Amino acid sequence: MQMPDIRLLLIGSGAVMLGHMRSLVQLKGVKIVGLADVDEARMARAMEMLEEPVPGLLDYRQLLETVEADACFIAVPNYLHRQVACDCLDAGLHTMCEKPLATTTADCDAMIEAAERNDRFLQVGLSCRFSRVDSTAHRLVVSGMIGEPKMVWAREFRAPFAKKYQDWILDRDRSGGTLVEKTCHHFDLFNWFTGACRESNATRVYGSGGADWVYQDHAHLPVGVTEAERPTLNIIDNAFVTVDYDTGARAQLLLCMFANRGRKLEVGVQGTEGAVVYYRLESLVELYDGDHPKDPRRIEIDIPDDEVGLSHQGQAYLEQLYFFDCIRKGERPKVDGVVGKRSVEIALAAEESVRSHLPVEISATPLV
Ligand SMILES: NC(=O)c1ccc[n+]([C@@H]2O[C@H](COP(=O)([O-])OP(=O)(O)OC[C@H]3O[C@@H](n4cnc5c(N)ncnc54)[C@H](O)[C@@H]3O)[C@@H](O)[C@H]2O)c1
Repeated sequence: MQMPDIRLLLIGSGAVMLGHMRSLVQLKGVKIVGLADVDEARMARAMEMLEEPVPGLLDYRQLLETVEADACFIAVPNYLHRQVACDCLDAGLHTMCEKPLATTTADCDAMIEAAERNDRFLQVGLSCRFSRVDSTAHRLVVSGMIGEPKMVWAREFRAPFAKKYQDWILDRDRSGGTLVEKTCHHFDLFNWFTGACRESNATRVYGSGGADWVYQDHAHLPVGVTEAERPTLNIIDNAFVTVDYDTGARAQLLLCMFANRGRKLEVGVQGTEGAVVYYRLESLVELYDGDHPKDPRRIEIDIPDDEVGLSHQGQAYLEQLYFFDCIRKGERPKVDGVVGKRSVEIALAAEESVRSHLPVEISATPLV
């Protein structure tokens, strides 16, 4: 028997939602039935991507009241995630909320609780878990080929944040800070890889970072930003963060947000018997094991042609397929509110440690 289409609402139509829409509009069995955004021009741009117009409202709550739906995608600024997600869950919608889950642990708890209370799924957009490159690396680690993971690292050297709606991304109060906004992805990877062989909980976080270049008076402005648009900001643009785990593993992040040249995204896992290192931008995984102790086995990941042009080389598309599959099967998504909260806990501790210059102890929320 053919299942009815999943009726989907989209809330927020900024850069990320437009990226999601490139694949959402093609998905079989999913029908976008409404949009909401406070900015009419952005909403109009999103509407143009649909074959047929659907209701588009400035107030998402009116959309929830007037349009029948089964699920929603949320891509609004981080500080709004809690309110919007709780309203969607209370309206009975399975909810896919962009990362970071929220900007405080109390907000994460409220969202997790709203999903439980309404018996709806809450998935968080930690989409690296769906990348073909990251998941190949994870499968190798889980297989035990490199023994027990002891050290994990992520080095991301990239260009500054792109311009966002009302510069929310440059304001710690609205974004949670750079280590919440950007590197919740990396902290999630640390949790995922250290927990690949047995459950791991982060226990202590040490951070050192600063706002040393991006948008500072002496600095070049990012491409596309004029002097008149130079914003004030209270976020950091570079950091080293170390995370200790109760398995004895430790993880380290190196982040630079002003690497206009020398872009780099490297993630590695050193185990007791070998290592896996990967480069997502190059779709390359290297395996150092007993057979390849010095020169690694190079695994070039084949990204199917129809995924290459999609958001984040298809990882958002694979994330979407998973979310809708969970809804159809009635299976709780693995990348749920608890997983989202665990990365936010580390990120907030890292932000605090950068400010206090002291290590911050945490007791990570147990996985359920
Ligand atoms: N998964 C990923 O890899 C990834 C990558 C980048 C960003 N994100 C996340 O996606 C979210 C959106 O980021 P973005 O880059 O699209 O930002 P953006 O500023 O480009 O878009 C945000 C949109 O939300 C709209 N908005 C603001 N308040 C609203 C409200 N009350 N109701 C409805 N719409 C409202 C704005 O008008 C804007 O169109 C953020 O949480 C961000 O962290 C995820």
